Amino acid sequence: MNQTSAATTQPLTDSIRRVVDAGKITLPPLPNLVNRLMELLRDQDSASSRKVARLVGTDPAVAATLLRWANSAAFGGLHPISDLSLAIARLGFRQVTSAVTTLAHSGHFRSDDPVKSRLLESLWGHAVTTAMASKHIASLTGGEPEQSFVAGLLHDAGKLLVLRAVDHLETHDGADIMPPVLDELMNVLHTELGHSTLASWSVPEPICHAALHHHDEEVDPDHPLAVRVQAADAVACKMGWLA
Ligand SMILES: [Fe+2]
Ligand SMILES: [Fe+2]
Repeated sequence: MNQTSAATTQPLTDSIRRVVDAGKITLPPLPNLVNRLMELLRDQDSASSRKVARLVGTDPAVAATLLRWANSAAFGGLHPISDLSLAIARLGFRQVTSAVTTLAHSGHFRSDDPVKSRLLESLWGHAVTTAMASKHIASLTGGEPEQSFVAGLLHDAGKLLVLRAVDHLETHDGADIMPPVLDELMNVLHTELGHSTLASWSVPEPICHAALHHHDEEVDPDHPLAVRVQAADAVACKMGWLA
């Protein structure tokens, strides 16, 4: 950051930390269902399509979406199915956490403002590409692919909070924040705000840690998930999904 941009953004970073600390700005949490699925699927031996279906069935909107996906061209078998256990078996029950998290997190990337909508679309492309790269890297390196997918998907969640905080400052404090300043604010703040947001959602600690450390210059072999997300983030940027 050069001196001019540091001087420009410092009061704004302070303001954003203040409104976030005061609880004026939050991201709606992921449904509790995501954490319960992660818990259930952590024990590979006891997880089953029926147990996962029982849990997913507590959220009718999610259940309906999974049924629709299971019957879609990508997964469709010879016969349409209406039973949730069968739908989960067809999708692969270990992928259900990723699907449910993707579904829930996608709601954070919507805006009525066309300019913000374009930015959010780009952030979403980066998040999904990082998630897929992270999952692939995990499968090659002995990691847990679904946890790696979720960590990749959520790693830049702090940027969404910065965007909301900027909206708040523009609406309530009359701030006029130009795109280069917004980029700088996201760069400076998104790892710490991402970490605190994910921790407040009770997301497992390794995923919070990856969000906090994915831009560290040093890689820490004691935190392989963070290393995978760092690598996946670089892959997504190389593929043109900058964020
Ligand atoms: Fe990032
Ligand atoms: Fe990223």
